[in-house]
Amino acid sequence: MRCDQTLAWKNLQAHAQGFAGFDLRTAFAADAQRAQTLSQSAPHVFADLSKNHTDSATEALLMALAQQTGLAAHRDAMFRGEHINATEDRAVMHWLLRQPAGSLQGALAAPLAQVHETLDAMLRFAEQVRADAQITDVVNIGIGGSDLGPQMAVLALQDFVIPGKRFHFVSNVDGHELAAVLQGLKAENTLFLIASKTFTTIETMTNARSALTWFQAQGGTDVARHFAALTTHVSAAAAFGITTTFGFWDWVGGRYSVWSAIGLPVAIAIGAQGFRDLLAGAHAMDQHFQTAPLEANLPVRLGLLDLWYRNFLGYTSRSIAPYHSALRRVPAYLQQLEMESNGKRVDRNGQALPYGTSPVLWGEPGTNGQHAYFQMLHQGTDVVPLEFIAVKKPTHSLKDHHELLLANAIAQAQALMLGQADAGGHKHFTGNRPSTFLLLDELTPASLGALIALQEHRVFTSGSVWGINSFDQWGVELGKVLAKDIHARMLSGDASGLDASSAELLRRVR
Ligand code: F6P
Repeated sequence: MRCDQTLAWKNLQAHAQGFAGFDLRTAFAADAQRAQTLSQSAPHVFADLSKNHTDSATEALLMALAQQTGLAAHRDAMFRGEHINATEDRAVMHWLLRQPAGSLQGALAAPLAQVHETLDAMLRFAEQVRADAQITDVVNIGIGGSDLGPQMAVLALQDFVIPGKRFHFVSNVDGHELAAVLQGLKAENTLFLIASKTFTTIETMTNARSALTWFQAQGGTDVARHFAALTTHVSAAAAFGITTTFGFWDWVGGRYSVWSAIGLPVAIAIGAQGFRDLLAGAHAMDQHFQTAPLEANLPVRLGLLDLWYRNFLGYTSRSIAPYHSALRRVPAYLQQLEMESNGKRVDRNGQALPYGTSPVLWGEPGTNGQHAYFQMLHQGTDVVPLEFIAVKKPTHSLKDHHELLLANAIAQAQALMLGQADAGGHKHFTGNRPSTFLLLDELTPASLGALIALQEHRVFTSGSVWGINSFDQWGVELGKVLAKDIHARMLSGDASGLDASSAELLRRVR
């Protein structure tokens, strides 16, 4: 049943009205157990949800909503390999990429065997590259999910990255990006990874062609050694002239593909065992999502909280603050994960929805954000829930820095909540501003895997209850078609039939 037609939705609406006067400070004073009740441990991640605009009654109603919309059945359908991505008639099985070898029987046993065959081949190749002292630079050419995941993970795991090799990520069709990377490279020392699920994406194809031209112009001849393709479209890679190829499957969405061959730069960076640890951390979170009761299931609790904020309290945005500089690409990664998955205005049957879906996600690492836009979070007119991601143990020896960093994270969450009600005028802080605090013990391949899988399943949860297809992305297609047309007009100068604004812009840039 569509979520807004359930009894739970109506109950939540009534509950939200009474919630207008909710105050975090009063809630803590009234309930000595609040920090415990509204916190949740999951594999590698501890979450303090208690500084959110929620309480046990809200959670109970949200659980009823999950039950009345069939969340668990939808989740189980995904884990059975059903074609829940109906608009593309595809299964959704990124989770299979982290499933241990031989652990499934029945229809999924064969795809799992293929997953491990490809994984083993890819990890052998990664080890070969790691051992090859002549390769000093690895350039990943890909965009969207073929860029954000591997880039985010290589940065996040910088402490595990093999010394002596540099990793570059070229995504934009803007030639400034590729030119700047190529400038510092030598053909004989470079491995190009052409990462594209479809092997048709115009940005990636343009960058790949230019990289190949550059390689040949530098005297490079051994394309099989210096170019590898990561794609589901192996024949297109072959037609391009690349024979070293690692494949994956149409049931892996681009934004869910870091666990597949798209993760090759990560595997080269942190090694085969590191990559297996990343998968194992994600798998532990998969199991938590599949087996923990909904009320003790962290991705479910987070996804439902997101929905409560979006549909009942009117918060349209969420800010992400990783208090660890290695996690600096996590906000960009999460933007694609959530906004490309849940930025939908129709339900799974194509019917327009009368309620809001994906919030806007954005953010920067703490403490930098504190000195930029946190002003608005503390004293602005909108309430923006903030999600802290902190790591207990640093990997450097500058102990006092890390203590200061963590103290800032806790203090910001506290300041948002407590405010400064006794000060007047410009110094007045209303407080009662919500935040979630995610804490990892340490940043390792396994904990990163768990953190990312947690976010995937949280997006699944809200998308499922909203009744949308979180696994297609038709919204990016129109721009691609129009860009082709404008590009042709740019070459020809023909502006006939264009709207006046586009015609004038075309005239100005020609
Ligand atoms: O245009 C959006 C998108 O389709 C994303 O979903 C995807 O991650 C990205 O483009 C790149 O696609 P590909 O891996 O096929 O090049």
